[in-house]
Amino acid sequence: MRIILFGPPGAGKGTQARRLERNRGLEQIATGDIIRTAMKNETPVGLEAKSYVEKGELVPDEVVRKLAENAIAERGLDDFILDGYPRTTQQAEWLTEFEEKNEAPIHACISLQVPDDVIVDRLSKRRVHRQTGTTYHLDHNPPPEDVDADMIIQRDDDRPATVRNRLNVYREETQPLEDYYEGRGLLVRVDGTGDIKDVYQRINGVLDDLA
Ligand code: AP5
Ligand code: MG
Repeated sequence: MRIILFGPPGAGKGTQARRLERNRGLEQIATGDIIRTAMKNETPVGLEAKSYVEKGELVPDEVVRKLAENAIAERGLDDFILDGYPRTTQQAEWLTEFEEKNEAPIHACISLQVPDDVIVDRLSKRRVHRQTGTTYHLDHNPPPEDVDADMIIQRDDDRPATVRNRLNVYREETQPLEDYYEGRGLLVRVDGTGDIKDVYQRINGVLDDLA
């Protein structure tokens, strides 16, 4: 099954994608994670992306297109979840071309609906494991006590001013893609509020109906 997991920053795309990967054998392809790894390793892509990510801006389309298409090709065309791709109309059009060229159509674009006040809470209290990338929330999903506290960090782009910009960029450049996928008959809106397990059950139900 080929799924797009869509939604604003902090909607829970990564949290849910990792659960779906564990439970349904779908491979998570998260362009944000790929970009952060490239930044950490100071690769040419990472060095180019850094200034955009730190300001909460989108990395140029051509750069992300290559990262996403290479990642799909590496993991196989059959069972994946796109987490954070596509994010612009140009990226969505390229993905449609990619689907057609490879005869690998997307089955659904699941859009997590979460209001801004919840997003700000989630991002301000998000913490990440420096090595594994595991994501926590200080209240709802705290790091286990046996995890070394020095390994738990806050993402640079989770500072309040950057979060505000990421939300603006989402509204202007990314949210319009809901119309694009609605037009293709693929959009499914899912309530992204409430407990992580409840959100998971809602998404799981949608995927069961598609299977
Ligand atoms: P990316 O890493 O994709 O960031 P994002 O879309 O802003 O989304 P986040 O990862 O912040 O949130 P999420 O929805 O994954 O939420 P999470 O599960 O962590 O991209 C980063 C940057 O890379 C971009 O700004 C851009 O510069 C660049 N980039 C990436 N892709 C690009 C593209 N296609 N084009 C151009 N540039 C691109 O959850 C958030 C928190 O909430 C966590 O603490 C979690 O524990 C908690 N939480 C989750 N669900 C719940 C729940 N139900 N209840 C309570 N807490 C919850
Ligand atoms: Mg994420």
